[in-house]
Amino acid sequence: MVGYAFMGAAHSQAWRTVNRVFDLPLHVRMTAVCGRDEANVAAAAARLGWQEHTTDWRSLVARDDIDLIDVCTPGDSHAEIALAALAAGKHVLCEKPLANTIAEAREMAAAAVRAEAAGIRSMCGFNYRRVPAVSLMRRMVADGRIGDIRHIRAAYLQDWITDPQFPLVWRLQKDKAGSGALGDIGAHIIDLTQFVSGQSITGVTALTETFVKERPLPQASSGLSAAAEDNSGNGTPIATGPVTVDDAALFLARLNGGAIATYEATRFATGRKNGLRVEINGSRGSVAFDFERMNELEFYDATGPSDEQGFTRILVTEPDHPYLSAWWPPGHGIGYEHAFTHQARDLVEAIATGADPTPSFTDALQVQLVLDAVIRSADHGSAWTDVEPILAEVAA
Ligand SMILES: NC(=O)c1ccc[n+]([C@@H]2O[C@H](COP(=O)([O-])OP(=O)(O)OC[C@H]3O[C@@H](n4cnc5c(N)ncnc54)[C@H](O)[C@@H]3O)[C@@H](O)[C@H]2O)c1
Repeated sequence: MVGYAFMGAAHSQAWRTVNRVFDLPLHVRMTAVCGRDEANVAAAAARLGWQEHTTDWRSLVARDDIDLIDVCTPGDSHAEIALAALAAGKHVLCEKPLANTIAEAREMAAAAVRAEAAGIRSMCGFNYRRVPAVSLMRRMVADGRIGDIRHIRAAYLQDWITDPQFPLVWRLQKDKAGSGALGDIGAHIIDLTQFVSGQSITGVTALTETFVKERPLPQASSGLSAAAEDNSGNGTPIATGPVTVDDAALFLARLNGGAIATYEATRFATGRKNGLRVEINGSRGSVAFDFERMNELEFYDATGPSDEQGFTRILVTEPDHPYLSAWWPPGHGIGYEHAFTHQARDLVEAIATGADPTPSFTDALQVQLVLDAVIRSADHGSAWTDVEPILAEVAA
């Protein structure tokens, strides 16, 4: 695994747990973790359960006793690490968004398709697909329970940078992150809604905003938290730098199955910590998911008797719900980390059975193409902008 902070911890938890919860044909060995700082990565290896550590990710790619490389770094290094790993014949799990540019994403998808022929598997880490209530939502939509889809309404709301003194961490720098709220959390709702609906976004009209354009430089580069003062303890302000990404991104979209959609991704929704909500309205009913109530799915069945109609709250904890037979008795809910264990399970199973796991790098490229269309639309006065096609050589 490369990178050991937020996602590194979540993925490590999944690798530690997966064989203890699920009966799998292969056993995961957590061989080595990589980071840039020797002391920090050594401590992380001990804390997270890795046998060895290194500061050189290339040494991981070169090892014969490593079969899978798990990329948990910021987007500016995804392409280089994933491409080297695939070229060396390693399976790859890469965090989302797949890359920082569509050029990189196209190259990664093409490399993944070439590697498939040699039995090498790759997957992008859109973990919310594997929340059981979301997987159930997809199953119900695919089974026709809501009929023809008319509306998709998706919002991913956070508030961790509303304070203008919050420092300029890597997520606020275009060269490191590619984009802001759009690629970080907007990418999740793009993938989730396309996954659940079975439809792909074909065009968008978009608006982005950067509310705070200049921020204090961080003391140490980190993800969702960092100090905004120098280390002297007297509160001396440190130098500032420009925010080069969006704080918020909104867009309308058309999908190829006839649905129309609204999307909102922001880090300025004061009070909303990780508010991910998706609702889909169809000709026969509706489904709605709210991550703050992640063990539940709302379902409205418009085909029942009119005097009994209303949204039903399905408690998604039954053994016949996706993934849940391996966990706890009905009614004993699961949490944020479980979707990562489900992701690890599905990847290990795909590797063992010789199947191609989803979301593939090509699926993740398609999300990247939507992100790109959103940026182009916002840059051109919200003009209607078509999503570029996936080229034939990487299409499934
Ligand atoms: N699936 C999700 O829900 C989800 C949530 C958060 C982040 N992410 C994605 O995960 C990735 C990492 O985000 P994070 O929140 O864990 O960031 P983070 O800042 O918490 O951790 C990044 C890690 O990468 C390491 N790193 C950075 N550059 C490196 C390099 N060149 N070589 C080796 N190590 C390097 C850092 O030392 C750190 O350990 C990003 O692509 C992000 O978009 C996904």
